[in-house]
Amino acid sequence: MKTAVVIGVGPLNGLGAQLSVRFARRGLRTFVAGRTQASVDAVVAHIQEQGADAIGIATDAREPESISSLFDAATAGENELTLAIYNAGNNTPGRIADMDPGYFEASWRTCCFGGFLFAQQAVNRMSSNGGTLLFTGASASMRGRANFGAFNSGKGALRLMAQALAKECGPDGIHVGHVVIDGPIGGDKIIKGIPQYAEQIGEAGLIDLQGIVDAYEYMYDQPRRAWTFEVDVRTSIEKW
Ligand SMILES: NC(=O)c1ccc[n+]([C@@H]2O[C@H](COP(=O)([O-])OP(=O)(O)OC[C@H]3O[C@@H](n4cnc5c(N)ncnc54)[C@H](OP(=O)(O)O)[C@@H]3O)[C@@H](O)[C@H]2O)c1
Repeated sequence: MKTAVVIGVGPLNGLGAQLSVRFARRGLRTFVAGRTQASVDAVVAHIQEQGADAIGIATDAREPESISSLFDAATAGENELTLAIYNAGNNTPGRIADMDPGYFEASWRTCCFGGFLFAQQAVNRMSSNGGTLLFTGASASMRGRANFGAFNSGKGALRLMAQALAKECGPDGIHVGHVVIDGPIGGDKIIKGIPQYAEQIGEAGLIDLQGIVDAYEYMYDQPRRAWTFEVDVRTSIEKW
């Protein structure tokens, strides 16, 4: 049975959840992982109602044992790990000059260190058939910005770790890719989390969730002799 692992799953109307839904619909047994059990359970129930195969495992991306147990499940028995997606990474605003060291470190642990733990497990658990390992990036992956230094450094480091890994693992048939989401996503994190902001930019300024998921699916489907490392996605009105 081909399996997928998606970590960083929150509300149903969010990127982690919609990636899980899409790949479960594609016939992959999908391991849905996130910090909050209730969110994971809701996404799994939604997938199962549609007749697709999903298993929820509450996992903290920053904890080595937690990540390793997740991959134990995704590779147990006849399970063959085919796709792994690292989507964890909450934004952490704040000025570097005023920042508490613990705050900076916590941001790095989610945005970068967790990606390393996840990637190491994923590439070591894929079979000789290879597989796909994808990372979620942001505008923060590409450029530093005042008040976002912690997030910038974590996301930027994640991107370069992914690029190094792509070169290490390509010859083994493991396609490593990175999706730069350049702007706000039209999902619950923005629409429900910061409604005034969502209203101010309007629907035209929010990146279409299914369009983002299409980018991951595009990379997943690429043939071995035509791989893309990176795709960037933004709305037509984004200033970039
Ligand atoms: N939303 C945006 O506008 C936007 C824009 C550009 C890029 N991105 C990137 O897109 C990804 C998230 O997409 P989204 O905003 O739609 O959110 P989402 O995929 O709906 O939710 C992401 C979930 O990741 C979980 N998470 C956070 N830290 C974790 C950890 N240490 N271990 C396991 N799970 C963890 C959070 O769980 P809890 O609910 O428990 O905190 C959160 O609900 C992130 O990588 C983010 O940097 C987002």
